Amino acid sequence: MKSEKVYILAIESSCDDTSCAILENEVLLANITANQTIHEQYGGVIPELASRDHQKNIVPTAHAALEKAGVNLSQISAIAFTRGPGLMGSLLVGTSFAKSLALALSIPLIEVNHMHAHILAHFIQFGVRSSELAEEKSGTRSTNSEIRTPNFPFLCLTVSGGHTQIVKVNDHLSFELIGQTQDDAVGEAFDKAAKILGLPYPGGPLIDKHAQSGDPKKFQFPKSKVPGLDYSFSGIKTAFLYFIQNGTKEDPKFIEKNLNDICASYQHHLINILLQNVIEASKIHNIKHIAIAGGVSANSELRKQLKETGIKQKWDVFIPSFEFCTDNAAMIAITGYYKFLKQDFCELSAVPEARYSL
Ligand code: KG4
Ligand code: ZN
Repeated sequence: MKSEKVYILAIESSCDDTSCAILENEVLLANITANQTIHEQYGGVIPELASRDHQKNIVPTAHAALEKAGVNLSQISAIAFTRGPGLMGSLLVGTSFAKSLALALSIPLIEVNHMHAHILAHFIQFGVRSSELAEEKSGTRSTNSEIRTPNFPFLCLTVSGGHTQIVKVNDHLSFELIGQTQDDAVGEAFDKAAKILGLPYPGGPLIDKHAQSGDPKKFQFPKSKVPGLDYSFSGIKTAFLYFIQNGTKEDPKFIEKNLNDICASYQHHLINILLQNVIEASKIHNIKHIAIAGGVSANSELRKQLKETGIKQKWDVFIPSFEFCTDNAAMIAITGYYKFLKQDFCELSAVPEARYSL
């Protein structure tokens, strides 16, 4: 007999991280991620190598998550998995594993949209089990583990390696895409610039690190003209390439001498562009609960500027903890939990979708 608590085992394998999480109701018990370092030397993710590493990592990652959570497979209520968007070979590994497990355990299968999950990362409770959380809510137990969650509707700027979106979040399972990039994602603009500077993949965190000792006003970059709340980053990326080519033509040591200032100025520029549209979106939709999500939401300057803008604009801002910014299965698990409550299950015939809109 299963207890009334819901236990979700979730799998994330959309790109180069193999992750498994276990959730007890909305409380995270384990979130284990195997990162793939093999791609560093190639300056980007090599899909074939990523899927091979997922195959190697997925079973040990799931074992480690179950062990950390102290949960048996027989207790699991449903299996959630990332159906897309992502790399097809990578998605196939997670999808096949999730289907096999659901079939073997005779439990429901729940498909999750990766971008949807990045947003719901704001609802993960962590640090205590649900029984303790219930005591905390009733005031009989005191911890600081319960996180602040945004009220509906809120706006979420979702910024990752493959997407840049402004989403109006009406409910846990109801979204409206109100702005998005017309070409490259902002994470790509970070990673490509880092590659041009000779930094390894993924370059976003390294640009962030160098920027901390640089002058954000030293160099200027152009803005792309885009209608409405959409973005465009491909022109900025090309302008950055020409800027570096011209600089190194005049002085072969241009990058070496200016690395911190280049990173700070470029990062400052990208973040200004991101936040301008969020300010506009907040005015148009009259929403003051503003969240960020996705890998680029780990960026220290974005986090700082969002807080500062929030004070000026009288927003209530929501910034995920670092663990839930970049790809992780905890966000798949919480999305799976809300779908479980609605009995929103999928068939074993579900296939991955490399392009999967919200
Ligand atoms: O969400 P994510 O882990 O994977 C995708 O769904 O794409 O995002 C990865 C992206 C990469 O482009 C990476 O460079 C960027 O997030 N990123 C950062 C930082 N940490 C990760 N970009 C800027 N600053 C950071 N601190
Ligand atoms: Zn992601």
